[in-house]
Amino acid sequence: MEVIKASDYNVEFGEKGYNSLNELISRKSYSKLFILVDENTFENCYPKFIPNLESDISIEVIEIDAGEEFKNLETCIAVWDTITELGGDRKSLLLTLGGGVITDLGGFVASCFKRGIDFVNIPTTLLAMVDASVGGKTGVDLGVLKNQIGVFANPELVIIDSKYLSTLDQRDFTSGLAEVMKYALTFDKSLLSAVTNIHEANLDEIIHKSIVIKNNVVLQDPKEGHLRKVLNFGHTLGHAVESFYLDSADKASLTHGEAIAIGMICESYLSHKVLGFSIEAVSEIKKNILSVFDKISLDPSDYSAILSLLKHDKKNVSGKTNYVLLQDFERFKIDCQVDEQLLSESFEYYNQ
Ligand code: GLY
Repeated sequence: MEVIKASDYNVEFGEKGYNSLNELISRKSYSKLFILVDENTFENCYPKFIPNLESDISIEVIEIDAGEEFKNLETCIAVWDTITELGGDRKSLLLTLGGGVITDLGGFVASCFKRGIDFVNIPTTLLAMVDASVGGKTGVDLGVLKNQIGVFANPELVIIDSKYLSTLDQRDFTSGLAEVMKYALTFDKSLLSAVTNIHEANLDEIIHKSIVIKNNVVLQDPKEGHLRKVLNFGHTLGHAVESFYLDSADKASLTHGEAIAIGMICESYLSHKVLGFSIEAVSEIKKNILSVFDKISLDPSDYSAILSLLKHDKKNVSGKTNYVLLQDFERFKIDCQVDEQLLSESFEYYNQ
């Protein structure tokens, strides 16, 4: 797969990526390599990663608990304490080996430690490969509010190696497909049929196409002044659903992708109501998404609690919640406002 050039770093695939990592370590004479993992990636991915490292740099592995509930400042403090105790300095390199929690939190930890040390992302989930590890967003949650604390900071390098995906269970793998579907609806409809017929032979190509789309957006608008907001399609309602389920003790939590799948169906419906996107197209989207994601039944008595979480959305400006809506496939409008009563109607449409 061809190298993808981001603003000041590369996204490289497989062996080429590891060669670049080895070259980076020797060129920059790092004092120490910290590898951030969780218990799953330490067990399943670290043994696959370590033979690729050709360097006698001193290595320290830092393990955190797996799961979104640990993506918070307490975990960051624990990691900063550990790096400090292990003699980390400004010439240390942090390598993140894991899913979106590890790459987001690790990038944030690195960019704040001693005002910033270098980091390299090695995403091990599909979601982190096609989204979280690329584009320079780092951060953690604040309570149930996702990614509320964070900074923009670019890694030195991102390495994509789809061999790590074989370590995922089906549900975690599928979670990443929601982001690919987002790119399909907003930029390249051909990805929709690719996702619904995904197999080993087209996997790298799907990942590559997705990253190229994201990278093109980020190159034009790195700090989300306008165009980058398109990457939030499905995420306004999706994040509210995700936060609600995360915080409901009596409900099993949803994966990020499962929540965004709901968000994309609802926001496609809003696109019909607000921008006249054809209802046949919305129905095609719903059918495609539900061929990949199981339907979750949203309880009407939960609608208002879900919608109340919208007021914390990071994308709100002057108290207004903004949506990305579709005029057609591959044609979108940013910063749309929606009447509140349509939001519950969109949940009803999803539930039908
Ligand atoms: N995940 C959306 C973005 O990176 O902007």
